[in-house]
Amino acid sequence: MQDTRHAVLDALADGPVSGPDIADRLDVSRAAVWKHVEALRDAGFEIASTDAGYELAAVPDFGGEAVEFGLEAPFEVEYHDAVPSTNDRARELAAEGREDVVVLADEQPGGRGRLNRAWSSPSGGIWLSILCRPTVPPADAPAFTLAAAVATTRAAREAGVDAVIKWPNDVLVPTGTGASQTESDDVLVPDEEGDTRKLAGILTEMEGEADRVSWLIVGIGVNANVDVADLVEGATSLRAETGDVDRRAFTQRLLEEFHDLRTDLERVVPAWREHADTLGRRVRVETPGGEVVGEAVDVEFPGTLVVETDEGPVRVTTGDCEHLRPV
Ligand code: BTN
Repeated sequence: MQDTRHAVLDALADGPVSGPDIADRLDVSRAAVWKHVEALRDAGFEIASTDAGYELAAVPDFGGEAVEFGLEAPFEVEYHDAVPSTNDRARELAAEGREDVVVLADEQPGGRGRLNRAWSSPSGGIWLSILCRPTVPPADAPAFTLAAAVATTRAAREAGVDAVIKWPNDVLVPTGTGASQTESDDVLVPDEEGDTRKLAGILTEMEGEADRVSWLIVGIGVNANVDVADLVEGATSLRAETGDVDRRAFTQRLLEEFHDLRTDLERVVPAWREHADTLGRRVRVETPGGEVVGEAVDVEFPGTLVVETDEGPVRVTTGDCEHLRPV
């Protein structure tokens, strides 16, 4: 949101305040104040005009201005009712040199997931991409993906959903139907659809040189106020788990937590461990170098999974991870 419009909105929130007062305070013309008030009304803000002046009466449920209003993180939010993919739009903004912009959409007809899969993104979800330019080497980029998983999980838990993280960045909801696991079990199969359901996924894309990230796009898809029937099998939604949520508050919480963590990357891994479902479990990870099977014993900065295998510890930086459980 433009700075003056932001300041007008803040004045209205502290209202009632007259148009001339706002104009004086912000050193702009009365006509300019009127234009901003009208633009805010167009964006869905209810602005009452009383004898005492203008006053903010209600904030829209969702949208760019709504998320920016009261957001305690320095992001500009570009909202779309529908955009093919917020990651693709964020790439365009990256090419224009922008940073600290969040592209947010209600619906994504061309949503993309990891490994070139499609990502179902019906209306009612929270589909967003954070474009930032951290001054870190490309090797540290996974920490931002982990930070996004922590931020999403914390927002979900505050909304009343018992979310956990599967390495590296799937946000899942356990159903409690999975068999329990013990060290002595020697016949193991992958978790089944009934054991956990996927609530959110993260797709991070990056451009950089050897020693420096140029831009980083962290795409986060949260199945929020959507029907499970409109998602792929094995997915769940906030609607299914707890009922519809306030998407504005959820998005703000997620962005604030992400911002907090990105300013202190040392905190990311300990925060991730707090919510991890993978640690202590038998896992099979498909990596570019082959399959790694063993017990997931730790995660190290910037997001490396340590798997204790029969041949000793193996450190995995990338791959598709399956939790295993006894037959
Ligand atoms: C996954 O496969 O788990 C990652 C899914 C990431 C989906 C999000 S939704 C917002 C952003 N835009 C996209 O096209 N994809 C990501």
